[in-house]
Amino acid sequence: MNSSANVAIHPSQFPENVRRDLFVSLHSRKINHKFHYDSVKQTQKWLMLHQFYSPSRNDNNVRAIYEQSFETAAAKIKSKSVHFIGLGCGGGQKDARLLKLLESRGKKVFYIPCDVSAAMVLTARQAALAVLPRKNCFPIVCDLATTDDLSLIFTSRFTIRNSRLITFFGMIPNFEPREILPKLASLVRSRDFLLFSANLAPGENYAAGMKKILPQYDNVSTRDWLMAFLLDLGIEKRDGKLRFEIASGDFGLKRVVADFYFRRPQRIEIDGETFRFKPGEKIRLFFSYRHTPDRVRKILSQFKLEVCEQWIAKSGEEGVFLCRHN
Ligand SMILES: C[S@@+](CC[C@H](N)C(=O)[O-])C[C@H]1O[C@@H](n2cnc3c(N)ncnc32)[C@H](O)[C@@H]1O
Repeated sequence: MNSSANVAIHPSQFPENVRRDLFVSLHSRKINHKFHYDSVKQTQKWLMLHQFYSPSRNDNNVRAIYEQSFETAAAKIKSKSVHFIGLGCGGGQKDARLLKLLESRGKKVFYIPCDVSAAMVLTARQAALAVLPRKNCFPIVCDLATTDDLSLIFTSRFTIRNSRLITFFGMIPNFEPREILPKLASLVRSRDFLLFSANLAPGENYAAGMKKILPQYDNVSTRDWLMAFLLDLGIEKRDGKLRFEIASGDFGLKRVVADFYFRRPQRIEIDGETFRFKPGEKIRLFFSYRHTPDRVRKILSQFKLEVCEQWIAKSGEEGVFLCRHN
């Protein structure tokens, strides 16, 4: 039997566009997060990190809030066929649990795992095939940050009569809300359902909550994963220092930012182009927005996405939100 997989590659991930995005990232000193999931090595490092640190894998209560949200979403979908779009599906573990539930309710499910990393969509596809026939799975590799035709990608391929269920789990922290939310909102039609999860700053005091979660980022495994990007480009650890800080971002939100500060002159050369870094200069490798439930609801409503139900973990560090277009 032919065991090869058909994976659609959106132009945003064609080599010439990835090269352009890498140059933009290096020029602007702000790395598009997709470059942390580029190589098989990075993907493996992230999957390990996720397995060890992700509350959804290690905290039974976080797992439970996802399960509750899945039960509610599955119960609300009345159509027999469901087009399930997993945006930024990662390894697809959460999507696979929801797929199983939909199947157990007798739904005919078409699953579209979508991620910037081919390794991730293949991992998600593999997880989905435990539940779905291969012919119902349509993996897509796509950069959500640079794609402007998101709604077209999904409407042109699949029939528009059925309900769509869109998952956007663990994605919002790594995008500027102003850039990603209009795209996400354009995908959600009046009969569709969006399940959205966000990492939260726990407790009543936003600043204190941020301090509490900082060690979840400032640790050896996360440093190792983020540094892989620079090391692959020829930068050495001793060329500088990676620092994690809490900073203010868009919409009055706070985020954890990881910057690499050069302590000696260095340069990166790619295809005849040279990027020079002076001592004291920094390059932003990563950021992660942390929300609060109120902030999630307010920001989504600005993009006509209404939170109908929410499930907040006892730790106060993660929330799942079921949204509709209003
Ligand atoms: C924090 S993980 C979340 C994975 C999964 N949804 C989950 O909750 O386990 C972030 C995912 O976003 C993907 N990603 C990062 N930047 C992206 C981009 N610009 N476009 C599409 N996917 C991206 C990564 O490859 C990774 O799988």
